[in-house]
Amino acid sequence: MNSKRSIVITGGAGFIGSHVVRLFVNKYPDYNIINLDKLTYAGNLANLKDIEDKPNYKFVKMDICDFEAFYQLMQDEKVDGIIHLAAESHVDRSIKDPFTFARTNVMGTLSLLQAAKLYWESLPEKYEGKRFYHISTDEVYGALEMNHPEGIEPPFKTVASSEGHKAYGDEFFYETTKYNPHSPYSASKASSDHFVRAYHDTYGMPTIVTNCSNNYGPYQFPEKLIPLFINNIRHGKALPVYGKGENVRDWLFVEDHARAIDVIFHQGKTAETYNIGGFNEWKNIDLIKVMIKTVDRLLGNPEGHSLKLITYVTDRLGHDARYAIDSTKLQKELGWEPSLQFEEGIEKTVRWYLDHQDWMDNITSGDYEKYYEDMYKGR
Ligand code: NAD
Ligand code: DAU
Repeated sequence: MNSKRSIVITGGAGFIGSHVVRLFVNKYPDYNIINLDKLTYAGNLANLKDIEDKPNYKFVKMDICDFEAFYQLMQDEKVDGIIHLAAESHVDRSIKDPFTFARTNVMGTLSLLQAAKLYWESLPEKYEGKRFYHISTDEVYGALEMNHPEGIEPPFKTVASSEGHKAYGDEFFYETTKYNPHSPYSASKASSDHFVRAYHDTYGMPTIVTNCSNNYGPYQFPEKLIPLFINNIRHGKALPVYGKGENVRDWLFVEDHARAIDVIFHQGKTAETYNIGGFNEWKNIDLIKVMIKTVDRLLGNPEGHSLKLITYVTDRLGHDARYAIDSTKLQKELGWEPSLQFEEGIEKTVRWYLDHQDWMDNITSGDYEKYYEDMYKGR
């Protein structure tokens, strides 16, 4: 690969994308980094204030479904790498409005693939030195059984594993696990993954797909569990726990995901799939209690003060019981593992949201308030 690379990062104004853009802009001053984002409700350029004036960074406002515009950009910028994160990403929204998910996640990805194909095939060296890296989710694998509801000793332990860390079943998601998506969101991501692999198998495009578990950390839009609950605890608002709060998710600090993306973009094998996970399963209700404890302590409230905010509400439709990733392949082949212990990560995250109330207020004013009220009406 060239040292002077020209890389498009789609969805760079979103949660994970902004961490990836920041890492690449700071780490690779010789690369030309183009952040391509439509700036939907989830895109926020305030996430990138600290790097927006760097000479190797450029923002382009564009819809990934705009084939002509993207094809032109590929030529103008001589793009040789694409890291594709732009997507509609929230499961609850996909249940209300699946069409938007099919449009962006499926048709948008196909549009990028086809434009990249036409441009790269027009070059004398064709696909040499090129890479199309698609960021996907563990949700495409469906849901795992909770056959150990009380938890067992987990088969994996890493830096991220917290004190008393447990696994809630015997099964894990492997790179070979059959796709079995349940929500319109995960169905749209699964479909986009298939298109990416098809472009490798049919046209020889050098693609890579990664499937990651739940991320947490700064700059996450407050419709997702962790930032939503931190903000609600701060304001003494109800915490809407879906169902019994027993669903399990595997949490990874977002900067660790960004580091994995860097390693895989540069060293991953073409046409491979890598699972990325935190080795860090939590029942929602246990995680919520950790957040309550941390926020109360940092705000100077007595211990247990905000437990009264826990409000059990109607479950999410088709709510997946358990996600748990086995990312041994990535550890063994490329030497990546999480860097942060979970309690440290949560403390850092809670502090960040409490210290950045202005960031939160900017997003939660106006349209968002209405969305939030509609979403929870009748629950
Ligand atoms: P996000 O919702 O915070 O950000 C998505 C970004 O994509 C926003 O900046 C938005 O403006 C942009 N975007 C949306 N539609 C677009 C379009 N049509 N054209 C151009 N830009 C558009 O999402 P996130 O949580 O940062 O997730 C990023 C990617 O990582 C997604 O592909 C998601 O499926 C995947 N992923 C997320 C998680 C997680 O826990 N958040 C875990 C695994 C994988
Ligand atoms: O697993 C990776 C996926 O993680 C990503 O692909 C998605 O883009 C990302 O949004 C996330 O999906 P989840 O649905 O797991 O995340 P969310 O934060 O929406 O919910 C986490 C858990 O908390 C889930 O079991 C539902 C529950 N929940 C969520 C919200 C918003 C609640 O109990 N109450 C809530 O208000």
